[in-house]
Amino acid sequence: MCGIVGYIGKKHRAGEVLLDGLKRLEYRGYDSAGMCVMDEGREQTFKAIGKVNILEKKIGKCRTKTNIGIAHTRWATHGKPSIKNAHPHKSGKIHLVHNGIIENYQELKDELIKKRHEFYSETDSEVVAHLIDEENKKYDFETAVIRALTQICGAYALVIIHEDEPKKMIAVRNSSPLVIGVADGEFILASDASAIIQHTNRVVYIDDGEMVVLTPDTYRVKTFSGKNKRKKEQLLDWTDDEAQKEGYSHFMLKEIFEQPNAVSDALRGRIILKNGNAKLGGLIEVTEQLRDIERIVIVSCGTSYCAGLVGEYMLEEYAGLPTEVEYASEFRYRKPLVNKKTAVIAISQSGETADTLAAIREAKNKGALTLGIVNTVSSTIARETHAGVYNHAGPEVGVASTKAFTSQLSILVLLTVFLGRQRQMSFTMGKKILSELKHIPKKIDKVFEDEKNIKRIARKYAKYESMFYLGRKYNFPIAMEGALKIKEISYIHAEGYPSGEMKHGPIALIDKNFPSVILAPNDSVYDKTLSAIEEIKARGGKVVAITTEGNREKLKKHANDIIEIPKTLEMLTPLLSVVPLQLLAYYAGAKKGFDVDKPRNLAKSVTVE
Ligand code: G6P
Repeated sequence: MCGIVGYIGKKHRAGEVLLDGLKRLEYRGYDSAGMCVMDEGREQTFKAIGKVNILEKKIGKCRTKTNIGIAHTRWATHGKPSIKNAHPHKSGKIHLVHNGIIENYQELKDELIKKRHEFYSETDSEVVAHLIDEENKKYDFETAVIRALTQICGAYALVIIHEDEPKKMIAVRNSSPLVIGVADGEFILASDASAIIQHTNRVVYIDDGEMVVLTPDTYRVKTFSGKNKRKKEQLLDWTDDEAQKEGYSHFMLKEIFEQPNAVSDALRGRIILKNGNAKLGGLIEVTEQLRDIERIVIVSCGTSYCAGLVGEYMLEEYAGLPTEVEYASEFRYRKPLVNKKTAVIAISQSGETADTLAAIREAKNKGALTLGIVNTVSSTIARETHAGVYNHAGPEVGVASTKAFTSQLSILVLLTVFLGRQRQMSFTMGKKILSELKHIPKKIDKVFEDEKNIKRIARKYAKYESMFYLGRKYNFPIAMEGALKIKEISYIHAEGYPSGEMKHGPIALIDKNFPSVILAPNDSVYDKTLSAIEEIKARGGKVVAITTEGNREKLKKHANDIIEIPKTLEMLTPLLSVVPLQLLAYYAGAKKGFDVDKPRNLAKSVTVE
């Protein structure tokens, strides 16, 4: 997830509008920033590592009077944060900024190198500039863009300018957001309305498969196949802050709703159905070593720890690899038994958590192969592990982790298939898991359809002081994560417990003031879970059940409140069952008036012991 801005018009200096827009889009990425402005075809490009204010200082007084330009604030996916990898990218007279991931960039790059194109960066984005430049040798600017689009696969919002056409800007969209701000005598293109709202509240949202051609006076929208489209302008009455959150009241809620995209981005280009296998570019160098691995240890903290627990169930059942999950803070100070046949996997959204980093250093020191499942490209954990897989979930702003979690689970499924296929897993099983995994984003969307019901339940239970979260097998870790979420956001004392363990002690706590949220999907342990519900009901405890769709009638007499999730493979249910628990925590916290994005006593990234 990056932020892009484009300006074309007669009213303002492009550089000023672009810098201002970048600052407002910084929440989308902030590892480097760049800008290209043009004055009568003379281009000036500026790039800086770090936040936008560093770029601003670099530009200094060089802000000439320009009326067309593009800018970008980056959240690295392909290629570490560096000046070379910062956008805009260029080839010949083409300059562009890109938000998204080009899946087939390596094949395209190889072809272009054969045609004598020289590349300056490690990014997937630069390939698109070269592709347009190559087509532009034979075709006009607009046709060249369209011809390039037919060759790229992936997600993109692109804003493109041409040195020979200083009064034209082209933008295209496929699966990455793009909106035009419309004002008299000027247009602003951006990833979201927060970069626009201070100039105009008239906006046009561009849809997938659409291309916009802008001049200082007018714009037209057409499909990639050339059909003109009439677009409706919308009037926004958002404040700057609301625009950054795209109308959601908190970043946490926005990030919960971003999960279908976060999962799609984690899977993009990594599912190869015809081989029944996952392609994980970051593991290529250690592929052979992974064949010899006999054991896995996952180290992580907080929400990432709960993701690791789900991974343990998947890896043992489907890859046949003995797996343990440890709190990184414990692993680092005891005597961990690892050797070169052990892969120690760090799961970390930030890639900077001090305990996880120390655990990885300890494992490395003992000769283990270390791997990272990390969201932040080039973070310390990403750099210090031998190899790894990036999440591509984009920055997570809310302190309580949501989209990073489902993204981590998605990577763990891919890793299970990859390691499983190196061992006993059949082609058919690999294909079955991956085919179903592809449907998860749509199924998460389906969970959102029940938002009203979830909100009602959250408000109803927000008054309690203590709660149990119970689950079994794949959903035991989700019970832990659900309890963690409600503790963090709503300050309700909650315990995540394996439902079968209740009878060994915790059930003594149950009474009418101690409700339980029970994960009861239609899985191999469903009957056992039903027994747990009965035991709680018999002691006067209230029950909220999360179950598979179609079960409502059957469960009605057992549970006080019911939330349904779509049917999926047992190993994939955590990707769906966690979503209502995130919403329960969010709405309970919001009802109590807490600062959901910045809960008390917590930090997004804990870089101290
Ligand atoms: C902090 C955050 C949690 C997060 C944990 C691990 O405690 O508040 O939301 O799960 O750190 O962070 P990591 O970046 O390593 O995943």
